[in-house]
Amino acid sequence: MDFRVLGIISAILLLFNVSFYVMRRIYKYSKNKTEKGAKFLKVIKKVHIVTGISLVFTGLIHGLWALGWKLQFHTGTILWFTILLMFIGYLFRPIIKKKGKKWTPIHRTMGFIALGLLALHYFFPWLF
Ligand code: HEM
Ligand code: HEM
Repeated sequence: MDFRVLGIISAILLLFNVSFYVMRRIYKYSKNKTEKGAKFLKVIKKVHIVTGISLVFTGLIHGLWALGWKLQFHTGTILWFTILLMFIGYLFRPIIKKKGKKWTPIHRTMGFIALGLLALHYFFPWLF
């Protein structure tokens, strides 16, 4: 096992989490909505929370490992902080909702930002 393997695992978790949006859209616009489809999405939603929280840890361990166990400013660090914010946002969901703001669109937008940051981190890891 190498820090790169943990990086790939983290990337897979992130791609899976973003794909939840695609799955929901497909179901929303599908003509034959079945009970099975709705149930499937409910299960995926639960899995999504588990994979999201796992990603916070796998991403951090991968990053610390890659940089010799010292956290420093890096394209990966920005990506990880975005993921961490998504998790903190989830924890504060009741407060955000109470203020009359919708949590899901904020979370979704951050998901796409994270996807862009992953591409940056993968293709130009040492940009600065
Ligand atoms: C860090 C832990 C995470 C938790 C606890 C979490 C939790 C959730 C929950 C509960 C929903 C359903 C929202 C609703 O309709 O009520 C959701 C939706 C979603 N999440 Fe996450 N999530 C996490 C991380 C991530 C990450 C890392 C990404 C992508 C980078 C992501 C992307 C999305 C997307 C695209 C949706 C769909 C939003 C929509 O239907 O428009 N999430 N998340
Ligand atoms: C604290 C945060 C992070 C740091 C400091 C960090 C650091 C690094 C470093 C130094 C590399 C090697 C770059 C090179 O080729 O020279 C790397 C590769 C990589 N990282 Fe990260 N990373 C972090 C978070 C993440 C996260 C959250 C993900 C995914 C969601 C991720 C996915 C990857 C992938 C896929 C690679 C390429 C592995 C390969 O070459 O096979 N990283 N990272």
